[in-house]
Amino acid sequence: MFQTQQPVLKKFYYPVMPASMLAEGPRSVTMFGEPVVLWLDEAGRPSAAVDRCCHRTAKLSKGTVNRGSIVCPYHGWQFDGTGKCTYFPQSELENPPKVYKIKAYHCEERYGHVWVALDDPIADIPAFKRAGEPGFRQIEEFYHPIGCSALRLMENSFDNAHIAFVHHNTFGENTDPVPAEMNIVPFDGGFDMYAEIRVTNKLNNVVKVIDTEETETVRRTHSRWFMPFIRQTDITYPTGLVHSIVTCATPIDDESCMLTQFVFRNDTEADVPAEKVIAFDKAVVDEDMAVLESTEANVPLDLKLRMETHMHSDKPGILMREMLLDLLERYGEREVLPQFGTPQVYKIELKK
Ligand code: FES
Ligand code: CO
Repeated sequence: MFQTQQPVLKKFYYPVMPASMLAEGPRSVTMFGEPVVLWLDEAGRPSAAVDRCCHRTAKLSKGTVNRGSIVCPYHGWQFDGTGKCTYFPQSELENPPKVYKIKAYHCEERYGHVWVALDDPIADIPAFKRAGEPGFRQIEEFYHPIGCSALRLMENSFDNAHIAFVHHNTFGENTDPVPAEMNIVPFDGGFDMYAEIRVTNKLNNVVKVIDTEETETVRRTHSRWFMPFIRQTDITYPTGLVHSIVTCATPIDDESCMLTQFVFRNDTEADVPAEKVIAFDKAVVDEDMAVLESTEANVPLDLKLRMETHMHSDKPGILMREMLLDLLERYGEREVLPQFGTPQVYKIELKK
């Protein structure tokens, strides 16, 4: 599967930008290869539409905002959050013709972020555990592009076998490669996974984000996958500290995504400054990205194709692939695969 080539994936909400970034004026993002303009309406709510004026294709994100409408920088036409042209300065007609319109998208603000669905959504914006719970703070961690496909990042987030290798300088141990057991319970639109993971405190001894002097600790992790490209991993440490990470990958094109990550924690800035929490998680994400950016853009959903091999601990990733293939089929789509003859296709020969 190539992430921009399966239309049903556009029927989900994705976070596209921290809401605070719109205070200065309109901004542009690329989602699924499509240019999108974002701006605030009169009530301060975000709006989203195609970043292309229907008149002479100028980028609306280079314009301004007037009373909640986006103003094209080229000839001054104005469009509201439904995409309707509300004003065009060259005419004396009271109402602009109906054909003067741009495609508007579903747009909401939640958790301090702007969420956009390019097509009529078939799922709500995820309800995250810990959000708004008393005693919890939200820390914004990352908002930047990454060079891998969204599903690779999702699979990685549930892959306990990579910890000993990829993270041996931070919280893994390469003398301990057998991954923790996991308990997976699927639901409509995702699954829950529980695992108790023994980790080392190598990084914690440098950037202290857990109040412990131990060399090892056990993380009780409840992870939830929200189809297609969002996960929350709620970690409870023996100290009672909860570090609940939300990771979202919003496809930019087939090879890259916008990474949005924030955490909920039940401690305070006086206990551990946000800066430290971010530094800790950045060291970990950098390790993941060094490997993930070397993986292929195509993630084959259909296991029968044997384009990759699998092991026991790949169970969550395999379930993602099965559930996504099922979603595609329910919406009458076929998985888009690399063309034969391109160097990307490596078919694995299994012994008969
Ligand atoms: Fe936008 Fe002319 S190109 S008003
Ligand atoms: Co990792």
